[in-house]
Amino acid sequence: MKALILCGGSGTRLRPLTYTRSKQLLPVANKPIVEYVLDHIQSVGIRKIGVIIAPGTQAEIKGYFNAHPQVKKKQIKISYILQREPLGLAHAVKIARNFLKEEPFLMYLGDNLLKEKLRDSFEEFKRDNLDALVFLKRVDNAGAFGVAVLDRQGRIVRLVEKPKIPPSNLALVGVYLFSAKIHKVIRTLRPSARGEFEITDAIQKLIEQKAKVRGKILKDWWLDTGKKDDILSANSTILDEYTQNKIEGRLDKKSKISGRVFIAKGATILNSTIRGPVVVGLRVKVRNAFIGPYTSIGDDSHIENSSIEHSVILKKVKIDGVARLEDSLIGENTQVIDSGKNHKALRLLVGDSAIIEV
Ligand code: G1P
Repeated sequence: MKALILCGGSGTRLRPLTYTRSKQLLPVANKPIVEYVLDHIQSVGIRKIGVIIAPGTQAEIKGYFNAHPQVKKKQIKISYILQREPLGLAHAVKIARNFLKEEPFLMYLGDNLLKEKLRDSFEEFKRDNLDALVFLKRVDNAGAFGVAVLDRQGRIVRLVEKPKIPPSNLALVGVYLFSAKIHKVIRTLRPSARGEFEITDAIQKLIEQKAKVRGKILKDWWLDTGKKDDILSANSTILDEYTQNKIEGRLDKKSKISGRVFIAKGATILNSTIRGPVVVGLRVKVRNAFIGPYTSIGDDSHIENSSIEHSVILKKVKIDGVARLEDSLIGENTQVIDSGKNHKALRLLVGDSAIIEV
């Protein structure tokens, strides 16, 4: 079995951050989102992975994968497939045809995170010779996703992509298992109203052809990281779930730590309070500051005379004198500096290399 990770898309809802980086590489708990995807794929023993890339972000994505220790050691083999235009998920499968050949495959959108272990579904897919196994999750805003309608026995009867009036609250999660049958139906697709070849339409066609399509409702969390608030809630969930209490850096006597806090090597915490769950990256400096729950601070950042909570701070960021920063996503190499006049809480979505004086 092979896997296909989709790292195309332009991430419009995360601009300006996604002008300079691909959303799949945004960090959640100081680890790129796509790394969680890779871990998940490897957990079912898949080693041959096709990565769909887009012209604007291909260099960055290739750079990430090529530097990955397991790729370097040839424990995972990556093939890059360039999608020149964002023509949809089914189009991505189409252009990956030569890579996928006649094998069944796991398709994983590079910006989706889910907790559920894949192993059982994977075995079920193989054992029952399924043509498609899709994951579903009950959500409040189903209209933002592909939506499934099930019959009384729990079988999928219909799928619709982003319906105005959702026929159920079951969203299609961006993780799918397919047999080679999907290629035949993809050939017959027409573009949807948003001008894309939708994988949802392809699965609907499989259903119409009485192919073996099964849905699995996820019990645990699923996070689709398309917007700032999604990144923040993914960050909170992952921090809650996985933060280990470990201090590898240096802490002075005046600093206080409570809850689960990970402080990486080379970091120094002076006269500050950190309340977990929090991760602090390599060589970070924190001085006269409060870092509150659900915050990740990227490598080489400096936080001084500030209070931060529920935020994702990328690498090499400088924050100084900000009375209260919360619910924020701050790009790499950015500076947020207080001129001394601001005492209100700031909520920011800032791209890379910005300078903000408040
Ligand atoms: C895509 C799919 C949609 C699915 C979603 C999951 O949407 O088309 O069916 O529910 O991923 O993340 P998109 O991210 O293209 O808006």
